[in-house]
Amino acid sequence: MTKNEKPARRLRSQDWFDNREHIDLAALYLERFMNCGITPEELRAGRPVIGIAQSGSDLNPCNRHHIELAKRVRDGIRDAGGIPIEFPTHPTFENCKRPTAALDRNLAYLGLVEILYGYPIDGVVLTTGCDKTTPSSLMAASTVDIPAIVLSGGPMLDGWHEGDLVGSGTVIWRSRRKLAAGEIDEDEFLQAALDSAPSVGHCNTMGTASTMNAMAEALGMSLTGCAAIPAAYRERGQMAYRTGRRAVELVLEDIRPSHVLTREAFLNAVRVNSAIGGSTNAQPHLAAMAKHAGVELRPDDWQAYGYDIPLLADVQPAGRFLGERFHRAGGVPAVMRELLDAGKLDGSCRTVTGRTVAENLEGRAATDREVIRPYGAPLKERAGFLVLKGNLFDFAIMKTSVISPEFRERYLRDGVFEGRAVVFDGSEDYHARINDPALGIDERTILVIRGAGPLGWPGSAEVVNMQPPDHLLKRGITSLPTIGDGRQSGTADSPSILNASPESAAGGGLAWVRTGDTIRIDLEQGRCDMLVDAAEIERRKADGIPPVPADATPWQRLYRQTVTQLADGAVIEGAADFRGIAATPPRH
Ligand code: FES
Ligand code: MG
Repeated sequence: MTKNEKPARRLRSQDWFDNREHIDLAALYLERFMNCGITPEELRAGRPVIGIAQSGSDLNPCNRHHIELAKRVRDGIRDAGGIPIEFPTHPTFENCKRPTAALDRNLAYLGLVEILYGYPIDGVVLTTGCDKTTPSSLMAASTVDIPAIVLSGGPMLDGWHEGDLVGSGTVIWRSRRKLAAGEIDEDEFLQAALDSAPSVGHCNTMGTASTMNAMAEALGMSLTGCAAIPAAYRERGQMAYRTGRRAVELVLEDIRPSHVLTREAFLNAVRVNSAIGGSTNAQPHLAAMAKHAGVELRPDDWQAYGYDIPLLADVQPAGRFLGERFHRAGGVPAVMRELLDAGKLDGSCRTVTGRTVAENLEGRAATDREVIRPYGAPLKERAGFLVLKGNLFDFAIMKTSVISPEFRERYLRDGVFEGRAVVFDGSEDYHARINDPALGIDERTILVIRGAGPLGWPGSAEVVNMQPPDHLLKRGITSLPTIGDGRQSGTADSPSILNASPESAAGGGLAWVRTGDTIRIDLEQGRCDMLVDAAEIERRKADGIPPVPADATPWQRLYRQTVTQLADGAVIEGAADFRGIAATPPRH
């Protein structure tokens, strides 16, 4: 559309700016935009008003360069004939928000829903990066269901420390084992961590941020190739411009999230997650996004569709490289191309490009086979999540791409491990007691943590990847089997049993396990049980659910009153009822 052309359809924003029945209201709506220097002629011409949901700020440093990128988004919107309106979203800074940024995902979602619904916005560019910014914005886009497109901020440049690649988060988990074993001192620990963050951008490993941006692309909600471009590369600014342009076209073509976010699109995303060695946090976030999109994504789908997919991307924590090499090798489109050619993707899914997945992937083969492997010669076969159940929980997942050969060798006999439980109530308890010799922790121990789920923490914390006590680390035993009702960082390389639902605080089986119980993990059968008879479990229930901290803020109380379990995405109960609300404009 040229700048003076009018769209065929009356746009949502015209109900504000071009309100012919109530000139007083139109005047009120118009006059304050005038002091941004926008003219009434622009606003009344029926040009698409495109929101730029700005997630970057000093409190969201992983996304902060979106403040710069937004200038190119604006250029794109303007060149395509639209009007950009930029506004802030609630920050969800993963590394810094206490007690966890996960608590704020639903808050950011709520805030964005109110903005997109209650203001004159026809379409929106969702700026994403740090972990929760992708799911919260896509959840909101589905609820409102106006045309929406994701612009990832991209990962930081690769980090280097003393000649080795050091990746976000992963360097912390690896260095703290070295610190505990006495191989490095605190100064070196700190320096390695600082060296892992050499530029603007989000985590440069395939942690939750890179994973969720890849998921947005796999779902068809960003332009092709958007997710993996490093934040500092020139292509990132170009992608910002193209995304702005495309946002205007999406409004004119009326392509909305509900047209893109189908069950097939979510199953594509599940498979891509396995192939990139993606974060276990993709499970609750995809569940939440599916819920708000009105799509059935069952907890068992992770194993049914994702488990058999091989690991193709050699990126930390499951592999060796970081974001720059991954991007240069072809990034997410190259991985998707492998899956498509192997018959593992639904190529017919429609995307925000206006084309199908298969059309988007034409000519997108990998250019560096060391980093992105062919489907037939992967880094690891069957690299998806295992779904487990038993008397400890109805649902939990295990990321198999990070199970090392040593771990299999040490713990698993035909996929079975039996060990003695040592139980911690929250991470304070873990830190206080992990080195206590009285616990008798050895190679046959299973570390259990509870009180770390959505209700317990509150918000669900990344604490399940517990490291063994120092005396085992000094002997070179760097991981023990762990189980918990919390999550683990997407950058962690621990084979933990995570996201257990229902959680202890909701009366799940983890509430009744005691230190000294035997736990049997059977990966072949997909089971995890405490070998405690039912009568004894009933007796223990008289002790009550292990206590959790009181609500510390008003939002914590509201969150706990409304949140579902991790298996179901830890969404706000009932929020999915509001899907498609933009179809009914708010009252004046
Ligand atoms: Fe923000 Fe990892 S902490 S992306
Ligand atoms: Mg995290």
